Amino acid sequence: MISPVIELDDVKKVYPLPSGDVKALRGISLRIDEGEFVAIMGPSGSGKSTLLNQIGCLDRPTSGDLFLAGKNTREMDDRELTSLRLTSIGYIFQKFNLIPLLSAYENVEYPYIMKHRKNDDTGRVRDLLAQVGIDENLSAHKPSELSGGQQQRIAIARALVNDPAILLCDEPTGNLDSQTSLQIMEILAGLHGRGRTIVMVTHNPETAGYADRTITIRDGMVA
Ligand SMILES: Nc1ncnc2c1ncn2[C@@H]1O[C@H](COP(=O)(O)OP(=O)(O)O)[C@@H](O)[C@H]1O
Ligand SMILES: [Mg+2]
Repeated sequence: MISPVIELDDVKKVYPLPSGDVKALRGISLRIDEGEFVAIMGPSGSGKSTLLNQIGCLDRPTSGDLFLAGKNTREMDDRELTSLRLTSIGYIFQKFNLIPLLSAYENVEYPYIMKHRKNDDTGRVRDLLAQVGIDENLSAHKPSELSGGQQQRIAIARALVNDPAILLCDEPTGNLDSQTSLQIMEILAGLHGRGRTIVMVTHNPETAGYADRTITIRDGMVA
């Protein structure tokens, strides 16, 4: 049976600023089913990243409800949310957000250690790096010694290390040239093909073309 992995009910997000409240999300309701690949599009400043951050529990909505795998996240305490972020959600960002002092291998292993409290002795980190086309030699390099495309491959491997149900991508190809973007999108399409639920923010229609469905956001609302 297909069930919603992500459900939002009238989610609003207000950023209170000295200059006045910014109403970034003005009441978003949507559901995303297991195994779907959904693109979120919309103009700059329309609330796409804010929406993705609420879905990823990097932030809490000002009002409204967010259900992940049927559980209302409003009822979870900070410890439960931390565990949920670590085990159920993988994050991929435009700027890769790798840890500069760690090697590629160590970057991928880091969330594994956070979850399991020990190093990976299963070969999972090495296998994931190989899956995204990073060989043993490159695995020893620091992010600054690698290209943007290589860094994003490592970020994808890192996002997958704890086998999350949901992969969230915020402009994953925004910093990459078109040829490299294509390679990254082929990796994401492959993950979707193997059943992973993916939510991806993009303003590139070609990138959005990989998704099953596009949700357009305008002024903090579903257009
Ligand atoms: N941390 C924040 N504090 C205050 N305002 C913010 C913050 N993050 C985003 N905003 C504002 O919320 C609105 C939506 O931003 P964002 O979600 O980043 O849009 P998008 O990703 O579509 O470009 C914008 O007006 C932006 O300036
Ligand atoms: Mg954004």
